[in-house]
Amino acid sequence: MKVLFITFMLIQSVFLQAEDGHDLWLRAKSTSPLNVICLKKSPTIGIALQELEKGWQGKDGAKIVLVLKNNKEIRNDGFKISPDGIQANTDLGILYGVYELLRCQQTGEPVEEMICNPSYGARVLDHWDNPDGSIERGYAGRSIFWRQGENSLAVTQNDKTLWKEYARANASIGINGAVLNNVNASPLILSKEYMERVKVIAEVLRPYGIKTYLSVKFSSPSLIGGLKTSDPLSADVIKWWKDKVQEIYSMIPDFGGFLVKASSEGQPGPQDYGRTHADGANMLADALKPFGGIVMWRAFVYSPTDLDRAKQAYTEFMPLDGQFRDNVIIQVKNGPVDFQPREPFSPLFGAMKKTSVMPEFQITQEYLGQAIHLVFLATMWEECLKSETYQEGEGSTVAHCTDGSIYPRKYTAIAGVSNIGLDINWCGHPFAQANWYAFGRLAWNNSLTSEKIADEWIKLTFSQVPSGQALFTLFSTEWTEHFLLPVRQMMLQSRDAAINYMMPLGFHHLFSANEHYGPGPWWAPARVRPDWTPPYYHKADTNGVGFDRTYSGSDAVSQYHEPLGSQFNELKTCPDRYLLWFHHLPWDYKMKSGRILWDEICYNYETGLQQVREFQKTWDKVEAYVDTARFTLVQSKLRTQCRDAQVWKDACLLYFQKFSHMPVPYDIEQPVYDLNYLIENDMKRR
Ligand code: GCU
Repeated sequence: MKVLFITFMLIQSVFLQAEDGHDLWLRAKSTSPLNVICLKKSPTIGIALQELEKGWQGKDGAKIVLVLKNNKEIRNDGFKISPDGIQANTDLGILYGVYELLRCQQTGEPVEEMICNPSYGARVLDHWDNPDGSIERGYAGRSIFWRQGENSLAVTQNDKTLWKEYARANASIGINGAVLNNVNASPLILSKEYMERVKVIAEVLRPYGIKTYLSVKFSSPSLIGGLKTSDPLSADVIKWWKDKVQEIYSMIPDFGGFLVKASSEGQPGPQDYGRTHADGANMLADALKPFGGIVMWRAFVYSPTDLDRAKQAYTEFMPLDGQFRDNVIIQVKNGPVDFQPREPFSPLFGAMKKTSVMPEFQITQEYLGQAIHLVFLATMWEECLKSETYQEGEGSTVAHCTDGSIYPRKYTAIAGVSNIGLDINWCGHPFAQANWYAFGRLAWNNSLTSEKIADEWIKLTFSQVPSGQALFTLFSTEWTEHFLLPVRQMMLQSRDAAINYMMPLGFHHLFSANEHYGPGPWWAPARVRPDWTPPYYHKADTNGVGFDRTYSGSDAVSQYHEPLGSQFNELKTCPDRYLLWFHHLPWDYKMKSGRILWDEICYNYETGLQQVREFQKTWDKVEAYVDTARFTLVQSKLRTQCRDAQVWKDACLLYFQKFSHMPVPYDIEQPVYDLNYLIENDMKRR
């Protein structure tokens, strides 16, 4: 038996070439020639032809027809696909159709005749990259766009090659926009020297249908324009932005527009001049309008408060509904606080009925183990998109309230904060690539399931590709049973596991310090404002734990449309997953499971830890199906994740135990660390 196994492993390792992950989900090589007929010529069509040649897995000598033809059923850059070819209204539609056709072939799905239209008009990656090449909340190396040092703005051939690969990967999943710099924007980005580089980036991205956007600092007119003010109602300021926008479009005719973080976390904004968010956003929108540009104005605003940070965006933006120009889109994070492992959806979704609202997801796992933990985020985004807002009765999900289907809008959009850097595999963790992939797929089609996305990604990323053999012939029953299914299961459970070992039952923001990696429910230095510390959120004391957001508490529940508001307010109907988000409860509160709250908390942490131990086993068992380079990298990251999960469990249980004064149930594994040790050795990201 052992000999057989070793022989099998040997065959496999001859078969599996080491992979550094740089090719992402685009690894397939053509197996046969084909005959493509297309009357149109353009750089984008040229790419479509190349892709067909490179990745074709269909019949030898097959004929494929690419037709540009006005079809009213096809919207924007959508397409109609059939086994014989692709029809679209635009060149980019043809390219998207080609990627879809190849994806079907490469994942072994039949190509059926159908029309595919994108859910959102703008499907954008937000890069939090700084001009010096560092990345805010970036965990996969430095920026692919910016760098430090002498000649840092000179464009090299390597830069261009990388940007082209980046554009190709994005186009293959339908992403059509990139914000090239951090929302905490440096005013430098609008200077002549930086704009020259932006122009070249835009040129490389253009044939792939990726529009370039920039984050701008609201006080740029005073910081780099020499004006005395940046007041959005000042004639000089208005003129400054108009001229700046004109200059940008003279360099980049298809420039997408601006992303703005204003009056938030110390960033300047219209409120500094006694103006509203609408005054600020509209001023920029007016400058962009003649060129077709948009403003993505962020609703991530909060000022230091003892009340409830979770309520602030809604309180500030709702009164402004209807006051924004039609080329302003309010960009709203999925939850009301900040990309926590689990939050209820932001109550702004669906509530702003006269304003375009776009979801902002975070692909980079700032609060979910960064590039170390294996956490597949499609399930989190699916949960948000499919949440019922009840704003227009049943079916008014977050997805439908934002994609134009309920409230028709001129512009619709969705953004994901990128997890891409200079690491050879782009994202640090091989499985973090799945989050980039998932964001693109959901932005294109917001009704896809996480299961389908995981399935596609695994097949494209881990199929074994001996040259000259059709890819999907390898999706044998054996491969499916022993690799695809267990790995898919692991991915689909992974976010749930992270919630369990970090912040179950509605806990949020239990992180130590500003690093947002390890646990620190105790962390509250006097110099730090309270709403940046965990005790503000968990409110643990000897009476109980949790944030009271009920009618008699902060009343955040009232920001949700009925019946949700009362559902969250009532203990009987509030889902366990949001319990401590909305309620402060005694440690011996009787849960629906029959256990008391303290025990339930303990079991949840234990479950999370055990789930990661299972992931380790799952991964070790699939060794024969993965090349050594990627196998060992994931294996080692899972080891760290297990240790971290243990630390999370012990830190949270031992800390909360100081208030509950109850034992950790004896039938689960007892903590292995001492609390003092954990406090003294605050777990740093490794
Ligand atoms: C989080 C993150 C910051 C970021 C901010 C934002 O708070 O920690 O680094 O700037 O979100 O989205 O603006």
